[in-house]
Formats: sequence, C-alpha cells, structure tokens
Amino acid sequence: MKFTDKTALITGAAVGIGRASAIKFAQNGANLVLVDIDKEKLEDIKKEIETYTKNVLIFQCDVSDEERVYAAVKEAESVFGKIDILINNAALWRCRAPFTDISSDEWRKFIDVNIMGVVYCTKSVLPKMLENGYGRIINVSSVAGVYGNANMVHYSATKGALISMTKALAKEVTDKGVLVNSISPGSVSPSENGDMDYYEKSELSFMGRTSTDMENANLICFLASDEASYISGQNIQIDGCRKKQ
Ligand SMILES: NC(=O)c1ccc[n+]([C@@H]2O[C@H](COP(=O)([O-])OP(=O)(O)OC[C@H]3O[C@@H](n4cnc5c(N)ncnc54)[C@H](O)[C@@H]3O)[C@@H](O)[C@H]2O)c1
Repeated sequence: MKFTDKTALITGAAVGIGRASAIKFAQNGANLVLVDIDKEKLEDIKKEIETYTKNVLIFQCDVSDEERVYAAVKEAESVFGKIDILINNAALWRCRAPFTDISSDEWRKFIDVNIMGVVYCTKSVLPKMLENGYGRIINVSSVAGVYGNANMVHYSATKGALISMTKALAKEVTDKGVLVNSISPGSVSPSENGDMDYYEKSELSFMGRTSTDMENANLICFLASDEASYISGQNIQIDGCRKKQ
C-alpha cells in the first residue's frame, strides 16, 4: 500500500481513528492535511507524523463552518496541488438520551457536524477530483447508522444518512474515477487512549472485544489505496461480528 504523490485530507484527525489513519497514511508516503477543532492535539499529531513526512498541514477548523472548510481546502490545494483522498471522520457522538429529551438544537448540532460537515468537505474537494479523474472518499459512519442505537436516535440518523449519501454519490462519480465508500465501526476503544492498538473487552461482538483505532485505520487506508480499485458504493462494517443490533 503506497500513497506516494497522494494527498489525504482527514477530518477529526487529532485523536482516535482519525489520528491512527493520519499515522498510517504518513507511514505509507502520503502528504497530509489534518483538520480538527482541537488545535493543541493537532499540533501534537503533526509532531508525531513528522517522523514519517514533513508534508503535513494542520487546520483548526469546524467542519460545520462551510466558509472555513472551503478556505482550508483552497490553502491545502495551493500547497499540494490537489487532494486525492478525503476521509470524513469528524463527528459528534457522545450523547445518550431518550428521544423525548433530545432538543431540536441538539438535533441541528448533530446534523450540522455529522451530515453538513461531510457535505462541505466533499463539495470542496470533489470538483478537482473529477477534473483529475481520480479520487477516494471514505465516510466514517457507524453500526448505529445500520441498526439504530436506542438513546442515540439523532446520532444513528446522521450515520444512516452518511451510508445512503455514500451509495448515492458513488453512483454519480465512480465512472469518473472517484470511488466513494463508508466504513461502519462497531465498538471502538476510547479515543482518549493514545495507544492505537489498545482494545477492551466487549459483549457486543463475537470477538469479545472492541476494535482498535489502528484496525479502523487499516480498513480506511486499504479503501483509499490502489489495491481497492474495484470497490465503490459500499458500506463496510468493522464490528468483530456484532452480536446485538
Ligand atoms: N469510538 C467509537 O466507539 C465509534 C464507533 C462507531 C463509529 N465511530 C465514528 O468514528 C469516527 C471517529 O470517532 P473516534 O471515537 O475515533 O473519535 P472522537 O469522536 O473521540 O474524536 C473525533 C475528533 O473529531 C473532532 N471533531 C469533533 N467535532 C468536530 C468538528 N465540528 N469539526 C472538526 N473536528 C471535530 C474532535 O475534536 C476529535 O479530535 C466518528 O465519525 C465516529 O462517529 C466511533
């Protein structure tokens, strides 16, 4: 798996799956554009990645801020020339409440970040991908978007939307060289844990454990690679054979 001369933009890159993906892409030769709201952690990951490549740009940017997203992508394109790979990973998910307790403002916040953030990032890179006849877009969804999680109705709805967005967009752009897929993790180890290979016991999978951040990054990088050249319009679950739906 080689990403020489390729540039990958990853949102939510400061911790967890996004951070592990950034490291994996860097280890395999990609230039990187890392986007997150957390400036301090972005600077930490930049330092970490500089072991593998100096070609890293970081942008403190809220993906739900359309103008800021376009400005960051424009600046990144002026440095690297193009974005070849987009990983839409940033999302809000830490909220457990019955449907009746979720306010309309909370719904809008989740929709703005988890759906519109993906729309803005995708809109900002897609024209050049189409012009170049090459692109890889990977949306990080969730098993919540496939099965629905009680007490996370708004989160589940946004992740379900991502899966259908993936399938619909793939039908528009695959024949133009832009492959679009999503991954749906089951339980993942807490992203606050800096060890990318860390996992915990979990009753939710037949494997009896959570996934690690790096296991998710491995799938993301595979889908972004030339080895995955015949895969588009798919949602791939990475859930250790999920037990409860
Ligand atoms: N952790 C899990 O158990 C799990 C399970 C299934 C799916 N997922 C999905 O995986 C993805 C990554 O989750 P994670 O748990 O690795 O990381 P996380 O949710 O802990 O962190 C995500 C990163 O996104 C950033 N972020 C949040 N809002 C943002 C915004 N508006 N703009 C820019 N950056 C923003 C955060 O600062 C953080 O660095 C998410 O899309 C999540 O829905 C996670």
